[in-house]
Amino acid sequence: MKKISNRKIFIQTMGCQMNVYDSEQIFRQMSLSGYEPTDSIDEADIIICNTCSIREKAEQKAFSFLGRLAALKAVNPGLIIAMGGCVAQQEGYGVLRRLPHVDLVFGTHAISRLPDLVSSIKRRRCRLVDVEQAESIGPDDFLAKPGGNSEVTAFVTIMRGCDNYCSYCVVPYVRGRESSRHPDEVIQEIEKLVSQGVREVTLLGQNVNSYGKKEGLSSFSELLEKINKINGLERIRFTTSHPKDLSDELMKAFTRLEKLCNHIHLPVQSGSDRVLKRMNRRYTREAYLKKIEALRTLRPDVAITSDIIVGFPGESDEDFQQTLSLVHEVGFDGLFAFMYSDRPNAPAARYREKVAEQEKKRRLQQLLSVQSQYTLDSNRALEGSVKPILVEGTGKDKENRQSGRGLIWKGRTTCNKIVHFKTPDMQKDDNQILTGRVMDIMINRALPHCLWGEPVHMPSKVVKGAVCHAS
Ligand code: 5AD
Ligand code: SF4
Repeated sequence: MKKISNRKIFIQTMGCQMNVYDSEQIFRQMSLSGYEPTDSIDEADIIICNTCSIREKAEQKAFSFLGRLAALKAVNPGLIIAMGGCVAQQEGYGVLRRLPHVDLVFGTHAISRLPDLVSSIKRRRCRLVDVEQAESIGPDDFLAKPGGNSEVTAFVTIMRGCDNYCSYCVVPYVRGRESSRHPDEVIQEIEKLVSQGVREVTLLGQNVNSYGKKEGLSSFSELLEKINKINGLERIRFTTSHPKDLSDELMKAFTRLEKLCNHIHLPVQSGSDRVLKRMNRRYTREAYLKKIEALRTLRPDVAITSDIIVGFPGESDEDFQQTLSLVHEVGFDGLFAFMYSDRPNAPAARYREKVAEQEKKRRLQQLLSVQSQYTLDSNRALEGSVKPILVEGTGKDKENRQSGRGLIWKGRTTCNKIVHFKTPDMQKDDNQILTGRVMDIMINRALPHCLWGEPVHMPSKVVKGAVCHAS
């Protein structure tokens, strides 16, 4: 294929939402030097793999993706291959030794220096590593989204790093000390996104509840209050919250701020006090349950999801039973469950009494099977109700081809459940018409991972970009 420019960039994003946001930042920085995105790896002049090291599996995936690129580099020696993100931060020069075809390794704080690093590599035909970490967030660390394509939802990083040092976790070592962005910058970024069509923002941080504390900026609740006032913004979400820092003030925000979505992700990690202590989580099972009760008293229909690790070193069967009993007691709306894996630098890697892989798998399956009933029950509880759905767009092309006549749409309830509905009279060309609207949908079918419904009524006059509240 004939190339139009020699400035095409392909970014492979692995891991969490934080990385999705960072990949956007990588692209924004590179576009300042004239780079354009490409979906085709063969057409790219730079391939960047933005990695995640939170669990061993994610790290293995990154190495195997980059390993496969050796063949491409062999036929195209001018191709620049880079590893960014947490694995890069953690492994540094080790990546260059392990993968001789990789040209650049850049850490979690080096994104703003990326264009300079790439031009040095081009000029000097060298290989570079930049894993320097900064104490605070600099003026060039986050670039606003340029004009153009309008998505409905967007992530906005409000803080970076983590000071909590949970004993299993690599984040404080690869993402550095906690530091928060100035509220004015956050507000400006969201206002710009809204002017470009964004209707919902998810505020990102490892522990958003401690936003601004260190720097003496506004508290997280105050920030939410300011964001709640932004005209044109429909919904606010945030992730992740540490249970020990979930303040009364923040819980009350759920009753006061009408744009704040009816969902909180509150990772518990374990239901056993003994394990929680060894994880250095700094709360007890009882304290966690009390916070859940307080939240539900303030907002009875709040959806609560969580993360749990099974097979933490020394986790006995009794400890695991405690976790299962907590899951029964809370009845989470959704759960992410992980098998513990050793992470470099994290203290738990040095703990003895490792749980056998087979046993970890068994516990994971048992936990997921207990949870699946609660997830389904919480979906079924919505059957027969009418919920406002923010429409994010149409389903995948394949789904729409299979659906025959009409279009399948996808959106979310405020409690973060995915909802699909069909518009039999719409054609492919109409695939933007409802995007960005809040529509009332009658939920008529609950499946394990999504809901199906139908519009209570279609907007009489469909004006692109307008927000429609069907009554
Ligand atoms: N092993 C397994 N799971 C982990 N997590 C973090 N570190 C580890 C680890 N070493 C999980 C936690 C966290 C989620 C993002 O990943 O549950 O909340
Ligand atoms: Fe890791 Fe704990 Fe920080 Fe979350 S709060 S990022 S689990 S150290």
